[in-house]
Amino acid sequence: MILVTGGTGLVGAHLLYKLASEGKAVRAIYRNEHTLDNTRNVFSSYTDDYKTIFKKIEWVESDILDIPALTEAFNGITEVYHCAAFVSFEPDKYHLLRKTNIEGTANIVNISLAKNIQKLCYASSVATLGNTLNNEPITENTFWNPENDNSVYAITKYGAEMEVWRGTQEGLNAVMVNPGVIIGSGIWRYGTGCLFKRAKKGLNFYTAGSVGLVAVEDVVSAMVKLMDSSISNERYVLVAEDWSYKKFLQTLAKSVNAKPPKKLASKTLLKIAWRLDWLKHKITGKRRQLTKQLAKSLSTKNNYSSEKIKTALDFEFQDMENTINSVGKQYLK
Ligand SMILES: NC(=O)c1ccc[n+]([C@@H]2O[C@H](COP(=O)([O-])OP(=O)(O)OC[C@H]3O[C@@H](n4cnc5c(N)ncnc54)[C@H](OP(=O)(O)O)[C@@H]3O)[C@@H](O)[C@H]2O)c1
Repeated sequence: MILVTGGTGLVGAHLLYKLASEGKAVRAIYRNEHTLDNTRNVFSSYTDDYKTIFKKIEWVESDILDIPALTEAFNGITEVYHCAAFVSFEPDKYHLLRKTNIEGTANIVNISLAKNIQKLCYASSVATLGNTLNNEPITENTFWNPENDNSVYAITKYGAEMEVWRGTQEGLNAVMVNPGVIIGSGIWRYGTGCLFKRAKKGLNFYTAGSVGLVAVEDVVSAMVKLMDSSISNERYVLVAEDWSYKKFLQTLAKSVNAKPPKKLASKTLLKIAWRLDWLKHKITGKRRQLTKQLAKSLSTKNNYSSEKIKTALDFEFQDMENTINSVGKQYLK
């Protein structure tokens, strides 16, 4: 039986749909019943008869920080997909980010070792990769640079990767994916789904940087293919296409029949904006929308290479323009 963590999030829910609709025996952990609606929403983006697939999943209440409950959830499990994480760029969430992403992953790794799990797939991120000079492609061999001004999210995703690699040194059979920004249907309240909502309301500005994009269907398909292969202890960048933010935000806007942003937000404007955001947070306590690191990444151009997965699995990525247009249509529904 397969165990999926993070099944109430974007990646985990699409993965659960794929595994359950292919007839695989799947168990998934959840923390609050109300978040199961996220999974139902994702399933309903595939089929009207989503309840039938949903019922095939065995749901077990567990937090990845609750070792006794998690150990119980591992009973009879042979393969694990670890998609649970706390995704936040807010510096004052650092403690919770460390707990969830590093300690939570250590728990998954330790129980996988104790229970002799056959294989683990970990959903990491391109955030754990370093930078290159002269816009050289960023690959799996572009290593983390601790001297960079890394975001709190990146630091903890990197720490989580270290836990997985530590597990492989202790005998764990694991694979890892490093996706760029993942686009998919079903969850519109937060994350990348929320970008469609923002685009619909109208965006004024785009930024000068670039973004590595990938469809959620490609992410889960690569994860399953890697798990079904004999590949072990390797990681794979998953970026279908690198787009400028201008193209990305304008395509997003078009996909939801909204006005595309026309003005460039300069680096100086972004520097002012993140400082104002910090001030607003201090005065009102409202959540940070734009941190220093996020502002920097919005004006940075990166060039990711996914040659490794293309070669290893003969993998082809979906066209991103089609993906964004079809997710935009789903949003409008
Ligand atoms: N989305 C992207 O663009 C993107 C890009 C690159 C990499 N990734 C990585 O891909 C993975 C999945 O991302 P996503 O977009 O699906 O994230 P998401 O939508 O925010 O979902 C996160 C999932 O993790 C669960 N979770 C959080 N803390 C937990 C805890 N303590 N115990 C158990 N479950 C917990 C959440 O459960 P609740 O519903 O209970 O909160 C939810 O199911 C993450 O590792 C993320 O870092 C995402």
